[in-house]
Amino acid sequence: MADEDVFKKLIAHAKEYGFVFQSSEIYDGLSAVYDYGQNGVELKNNIKKYWWDAMVLLHENIVGIDSAIFMHPTIWKASGHVDAFNDPMIDNRDSKKRYRADVLIEDYLQKIEDKIAKEVEKAAKRFGDAFDEAKFRQTNARVLEHQQQYDTVKQRMNDAMKQDNLEELRQIILDCGIVCPISGTRNWTDVRQFNLMFSTEMGSTAEGSMKVYLRPETAQGIFVNYLNVQKTGRMKLPFGIAQIGKAFRNEIVARQFIFRMREFEQMEMQFFVQPGTELDWFEHWKKVRLAWHQALGMGNEKYRFHKHEKLAHYANAAADIEFEFPFGFKEVEGIHSRTNYDLSQHQQYSGKKIQYFDPERNESYVPYVIETSIGVDRMFLSVLANAYTEETITKEDGTTDQRVVMRIPAAIAPVKLAILPLVKKDGLPEKAHAIKNKLRFEFNCQYDEKDSIGRRYRRQDAIGTPYCITVDHQSLEDDTVTIRYRDTMAQERVPIASLTEIISEKVSIKKLLEQLPL
Ligand code: GAP
Repeated sequence: MADEDVFKKLIAHAKEYGFVFQSSEIYDGLSAVYDYGQNGVELKNNIKKYWWDAMVLLHENIVGIDSAIFMHPTIWKASGHVDAFNDPMIDNRDSKKRYRADVLIEDYLQKIEDKIAKEVEKAAKRFGDAFDEAKFRQTNARVLEHQQQYDTVKQRMNDAMKQDNLEELRQIILDCGIVCPISGTRNWTDVRQFNLMFSTEMGSTAEGSMKVYLRPETAQGIFVNYLNVQKTGRMKLPFGIAQIGKAFRNEIVARQFIFRMREFEQMEMQFFVQPGTELDWFEHWKKVRLAWHQALGMGNEKYRFHKHEKLAHYANAAADIEFEFPFGFKEVEGIHSRTNYDLSQHQQYSGKKIQYFDPERNESYVPYVIETSIGVDRMFLSVLANAYTEETITKEDGTTDQRVVMRIPAAIAPVKLAILPLVKKDGLPEKAHAIKNKLRFEFNCQYDEKDSIGRRYRRQDAIGTPYCITVDHQSLEDDTVTIRYRDTMAQERVPIASLTEIISEKVSIKKLLEQLPL
C-alpha cells in the first residue's frame, strides 16, 4: 500500500478510536486545529510526562516553569518575531489560494525525486539481482538529467531563502512552470513576507486596549523569567529551565494532519551556559535528545540529524532531529545554539540588567543558551504513524483474519491493560471488577465484557493496549488469569497476586528513563 494511503487510514483510525478529532467538526471544522480525544489525551499526557521526567526529574540543574501565553508585546519586538518571524507567501490570482513560495518549490523538487525513484525502480525490475543502483544513478542519462535539474533548483532556492530574495523565489516558480494545484494556472502574485503571529486586543476600551500576541514559541516565557528563576532557585551555571505549553502560528500551509498546526504544544528547555562553551553543550544536548527518542524503541534507523544551512536570526548552530514519517523524514525536534541573543535583547528593551555573576571567572556576563524544542503534537504523530500496523493472522483452524494493531511503546500507551471476563456470568464479571479495582490505582485500566473475547482483543489492539487480562473459570478456582500480549498475541497464565509487579515492570516510564545518558 502506498504511504499516502497508509497515512489516510491512520487519520481515519485516529478519529475512529478517539485519538484525534478535527476541531469544531460539527461546524465543518477549523483548518489546522485539532482536538485530542479520550485516548489521544492519555497518549499526549504520557509523552509529556516522559519528557518532563527526563528533563526535570533526572537533572538536578534543570527546573520547570509554566509561564502565561499572553506576554508584554515588547517581548516579541525584542525577540525579533515582530520583524522577522515571516514565511514567504504567494497567491494564485485565479484560485485565490495562498501558498508558501518555498513549499511550492519543495513540492516541485519532490516530484523530480519521485521521477528518479521510478527510473531506479523500473531498472531494478529489469536487471534483477545484477542491478547496481549506485552505478545506475551515476550513468543513466535520464536520471542524471533529473538530478542536475534538482540540484540547480535546490541551490537557487537555498540561496534565495538565505538572502530573503523574494523576487528570485517568484522567478524560480515561474522558471519551473509551477502551477497552482487548484486552478492549474501560473497566474501568480509577487512573493511577500507574511508574519506568522496571531494578535488580539487586551483591555476593555478601544483607546485603552493594547495589541498582544499569542506566543509563537514558549521559549520567550523562559527568557523573561531567567532572572526570577536564577535568583529564587539560587541556580548556578550551567542550568536549565523547562516548560511545556501551547504555541500559536498562523501557518500559511497547514497540512499533513497534526504535523503543522495553527495551535500546538511545545516542550522546550533553555540551557544557560558560560560563553564559549555553547558548542560543546550543543553537541551534548544533540546526543541526549536523540537518546530520549531512541529509548522508545521505535527503531534507531527512523531518526537522523539535519544540520541547518539557513540559521535563524538568533542561532550560531542548529540541527533538527528528523523522524521518518509516512511522508518522508521531517523535523520533530530542533536543537539550537541561540547565543546570548535573546537575553541581550531583553536586557536592552527592558532596561533591566540580565546578567550572571560567575564566581569562577570573577566576572558578570549574559549567559549563552542551548535550546531543545520539541512539538508534542509532532511527537504524538510520530508515535501514531510508527504504531499503525495492519496484519493478517492465521488462526488455529487455518483460516485467516485481519487486525489493525497500534504498536505504541507500552510505557506511553493510553490504556495499559484491559480486564476482560471470558463470559458475562458465573461470577466472572465480579472477579474481573475486583481485579480492576485493585489495579486502577497503578495503571490506566479498562473493563470490557461486551462481545466475544476475540472482538474485545481487536478493540484493545486498535487503541494500542499492551496487555489484556482474561478472567476465566479457572481464575475462580486458583486465582490465576491469562495475560495476552498485544504484539505477539501470545498468552501466559499468571497468579493475580503478581499482576502489579509484572505489569509495572513492562509499562513503567522508569524503564525508559534508565536508558538515558545524563
Ligand atoms: N523555540 C524554538 C522553536 O520554536 P521551531 O523549530 O520553530 O523552534 C520547534 O519549533 C518545534 O515545534 C518543531 O520541531 C516542531 O516539533 C514544533 N512545531 C513548530 N511549528 C509547529 C506547527 N505549526 N505545528 C506543530 N508543531 C510545530
